[in-house]
Amino acid sequence: MYLHTSLKSLGFLALPSSLRIVIAQTNETLVPFAFKPLPLGSIKPNGWLKDQLTLSANGLAGHQHDFYDFVAHSTWLGGTSEYSSLREGFPYWFNGLVPLAYTLEDERLLEQVHSAADYVLEHQQEDGWLGPETGSERNFWGRMPVLLGLKGLAEAEKGGEWEERVVDSLWKFMEVTNTMLRDNFTGYHYHEGDAVGQGDEQWGRVRVQDMLITLQWLYEEHSASHNASQVMENMQLLIEGSLDWADWYNPKVYIKEDLNTLPVSETEPLFAYEHGVNVGQGLKALAVFRRVTHNDSLVQTSKDAVDWTFKYHAAASGAILADERLAGLAPYYGSETCTLVETMYSLSYLYQALGDASYADRCEKTAFNALPVQLTPDWWARQYVSQPNQPYAQHLDETPFWNVNQWGQSYGLEVDYPCCTVNHPQGYPKFAAAMYVQVEDNGIAHALLGPGSATVGDTMIDCETEYPFSDTLIYTITTKSVFDFHVRVPSWADTSKTTISMGSSSTAVNPDPQTGLHKISIPFGTWEVIYTLSTPSIIQEPRANDTVAIHYGALVFALAIPSTNSSSRPKQYGSNDPLPEGYAPTQALDYSYTNTSAWNYAIDPSTLIVHRSNDTTSLANPIFAPGAAPLWMSGKACEIEWGMYKGVPDAPPTGEARKCVGDVVDVRLEPLGGAKVHMVDLPVLILSEGGSTDGEKGDGGTGAAI
Ligand SMILES: *[C@@H]1O[C@H](CO)[C@@H](O)[C@H](O)[C@H]1NC(C)=O
Ligand SMILES: *[C@@H]1O[C@H](CO)[C@@H](O)[C@H](O)[C@H]1NC(C)=O
Ligand SMILES: *[C@@H]1O[C@H](CO)[C@@H](O)[C@H](O)[C@H]1NC(C)=O
Ligand SMILES: *[C@@H]1O[C@H](CO)[C@@H](O)[C@H](O)[C@H]1NC(C)=O
Ligand SMILES: *[C@@H]1O[C@H](CO)[C@@H](O)[C@H](O)[C@H]1NC(C)=O
Ligand SMILES: *[C@@H]1O[C@H](CO)[C@@H](O)[C@H](O)[C@H]1NC(C)=O
Ligand SMILES: *[C@@H]1O[C@H](CO)[C@@H](O)[C@H](O)[C@H]1NC(C)=O
Ligand SMILES: *[C@@H]1O[C@H](CO)[C@@H](O)[C@H](O)[C@H]1NC(C)=O
Repeated sequence: MYLHTSLKSLGFLALPSSLRIVIAQTNETLVPFAFKPLPLGSIKPNGWLKDQLTLSANGLAGHQHDFYDFVAHSTWLGGTSEYSSLREGFPYWFNGLVPLAYTLEDERLLEQVHSAADYVLEHQQEDGWLGPETGSERNFWGRMPVLLGLKGLAEAEKGGEWEERVVDSLWKFMEVTNTMLRDNFTGYHYHEGDAVGQGDEQWGRVRVQDMLITLQWLYEEHSASHNASQVMENMQLLIEGSLDWADWYNPKVYIKEDLNTLPVSETEPLFAYEHGVNVGQGLKALAVFRRVTHNDSLVQTSKDAVDWTFKYHAAASGAILADERLAGLAPYYGSETCTLVETMYSLSYLYQALGDASYADRCEKTAFNALPVQLTPDWWARQYVSQPNQPYAQHLDETPFWNVNQWGQSYGLEVDYPCCTVNHPQGYPKFAAAMYVQVEDNGIAHALLGPGSATVGDTMIDCETEYPFSDTLIYTITTKSVFDFHVRVPSWADTSKTTISMGSSSTAVNPDPQTGLHKISIPFGTWEVIYTLSTPSIIQEPRANDTVAIHYGALVFALAIPSTNSSSRPKQYGSNDPLPEGYAPTQALDYSYTNTSAWNYAIDPSTLIVHRSNDTTSLANPIFAPGAAPLWMSGKACEIEWGMYKGVPDAPPTGEARKCVGDVVDVRLEPLGGAKVHMVDLPVLILSEGGSTDGEKGDGGTGAAI
């Protein structure tokens, strides 16, 4: 978090030297979404997803407005507390809390977001600037998450006073935006003497897609009786002055290697494109730009962006491995909680914008695996980074990370840095808000699968399901007009055995190969539709160092490492001294998890068996807690010799060096989200039936199970 401010070499990111502003020939229509998003508030969660959102609302997310300095006493709300000159604490919080409050219709949170929005709109400056900064303190970046929150507020309050206030304020903000951008990109490009440093100032230029999303909405939904060409010009200027992700997702430039193996001179000039949170946010950038520029080559570039990121710099769980800066594939690299929620939002946007099913598959993977493992079951503490192989979560004397401190893998209020505290709340609310989408004029799709309902005009679709913990989704659909209902068929599902039934008819699905959508026509009336997925066998994903990650349906299964936890009063980021007593609610604690068993196991994937609990009552709440999931796997494993690297498990030995040093034992694999301490990238050995292998000293019996 600290290094970017001292970034000296901007080489590749050189600023344009002239004032020349060239606006390309304008097509006044934005390229339409493949699937139009539904307005915030039209989708409501059920089941486990509602439980998770409620935990978040009653946990850290829902209490920051009461006590957390960087929200409660932010300069945006008239206070003085900021963790950096970016003044992004309040913006991130607002961006997450608006969808959380409206998705749950939680009165207490609605009150928080309304009072915050009221303050921000009341304090809009004379020239239209939103936020507390004056003169050379102004930097567009901090506005971007606030604008996304305001857009959500206006959508959810359609036809009401909030909508009018927000839209009026945004049009006023468009005027100052236009003036500043035309004035040599003030607040966007760094100018000598700016109060915002050169490194920080580029954050707006590399994250500008997040501003364009709101401007595009303003342009399409609210430009009647306003100067639409001004917002179009602003969009074009912002794109022209941006750091262009297409320059990075270029085969001649993109770094596929582990960045930690390269010289600083090769990686530093490209830092803005390597920073984990920027990558998470930026995956959607080119699809957002394309709506304005109509440049169709960006469809493929967006695909390359996602495919390369996940191939060269990501974990099996759907987490981008970037312990501040992109790393490689080693199982000890970290992924930042902020990066996960941004990745999820980008992937859901990409599915809406481009309609390629792979984005939805990836979004679910991140949402059901990578995100929940980084929160305590009660949603009062989060990690800064999680590692694929992480058998404990505690203070490390030495770390394998590029720029994450010794507490980074523990759970807490603000361990390492506050950004993940203020930014984690957006994850599930935005996922929930993207579950359903509009398809053409007369269709609705369940795009991201999970429990929840959507109301669109006279049509109401309600889905009850334990997915991804079960294969059955039961819909109750009530409609006053004939419409097309679509369900997304995940890429892993066996389509020949996946069925959809309504009344007495049941058919195998036949999804569109591009979008993954299967369509059924729904007549007037009330209907029950049952969608039954078929999950084929366990999938072994080959990972680095001759290991595999285990997938079953949309879930990743990890070796669950038994542990104990201990808690303490939260530590202040930076100093790591305890925060004053009474500063935070008593539920806000910092946690360490310590392994109470060995973790150095090799498994035999051919012995894995999936188990499902016979308990037919509803899912446990919290569902993402050790042992809580109704699905788990058993299998055979043995301990191997496995070294350490900077305080954590190293890459495991390969080839001849990999051999059992203990009995073959039974082990348990659990869905990663609940297995806070875990091993995901597992070395493989063939362990003969109930017996021992070369060099193994056991008697063939099963030892202590873990
Ligand atoms: C402008 O873009 C829209 C939407 O992509 C497209 O339908 C239309 O043909 C374009 N118009 C021109 C003049 O290129
Ligand atoms: C415009 O800004 C650039 C830096 O972005 C600077 O080099 C240039 O001198 C400025 N031009 C004017 C006319 O102020
Ligand atoms: C509308 O915006 C354009 C682009 O910024 C500007 O040239 C024009 O003068 C504006 N028109 C009015 C009526 O303000
Ligand atoms: C489309 O975008 C790519 C990547 O930025 C660029 O190389 C190409 O010139 C653009 N095409 C047009 C027609 O502007
Ligand atoms: C582990 O895999 C990574 C990525 O392929 C490779 O760079 C590294 O050398 C491997 N380490 C060992 C110990 O095999
Ligand atoms: C810590 O361990 C206790 C006892 O096993 C458990 O009840 C509690 O949920 C754990 N807390 C966290 C945050 O994991
Ligand atoms: C937990 O992991 C550490 C680090 O590898 C190891 O030294 C220790 O023996 C493990 N604890 C138990 C109880 O096996
Ligand atoms: C579920 O019930 C069946 C039949 O009684 C039994 O064989 C099986 O072991 C049970 N499974 C679990 C996970 O308890």
